[in-house]
Amino acid sequence: MAQPTAILRKEHEAITRMLEAAELTAEKLERNEAVRAEWLDGMSEFFSLFLDKCHHGKEEEIFFPALAKKGMPVDGGPIGVMLHEHDEGRELARRLRELAQAYGKGERAAGNEWAATARRYTQLLREHILKENEVLFPMAEGLLSPTEEEELAERFERMEEEKMGKGTHERLHVRMGEIVKGVREGAG
Ligand SMILES: [Fe+2]
Ligand SMILES: [Fe+2]
Repeated sequence: MAQPTAILRKEHEAITRMLEAAELTAEKLERNEAVRAEWLDGMSEFFSLFLDKCHHGKEEEIFFPALAKKGMPVDGGPIGVMLHEHDEGRELARRLRELAQAYGKGERAAGNEWAATARRYTQLLREHILKENEVLFPMAEGLLSPTEEEELAERFERMEEEKMGKGTHERLHVRMGEIVKGVREGAG
């Protein structure tokens, strides 16, 4: 069974690939190039399901409470900062979804606003991931025993199935690969 931090780090890698695709898309829109509305929708789906519901769900409902139980302070400590950033991210992701819909309906101005919002979103998430990988996870690895780690990893797996349904995680991963490839190849 993998370590919970290893599972979360691996998800961070997938999320980072999608953030790169969002940045590339923002660049195109900033140059007033057209992009496929379908990509913007696909990114929104990924950010809302894979990132928010599944990844942040694991952190907020399982991982952070386990650390709090081991004595890590929630308010004012690193967990409080992470939770606050999750909320900020949710708000920006919600806005991105609205803008993607407007862009899909042919509102060109929504594309420029999508790009500006995506810049804020990707910066927030990149810094957030760095803090977790470099600060919070090493702290967690020092706090949790191997048995506790195993239990958390099992609970992650269960949550994934319950929240997302079997196969959804994999489907979103494949979809992420397609969008990243499409954006890179510039088939706008
Ligand atoms: Fe997080
Ligand atoms: Fe995370």
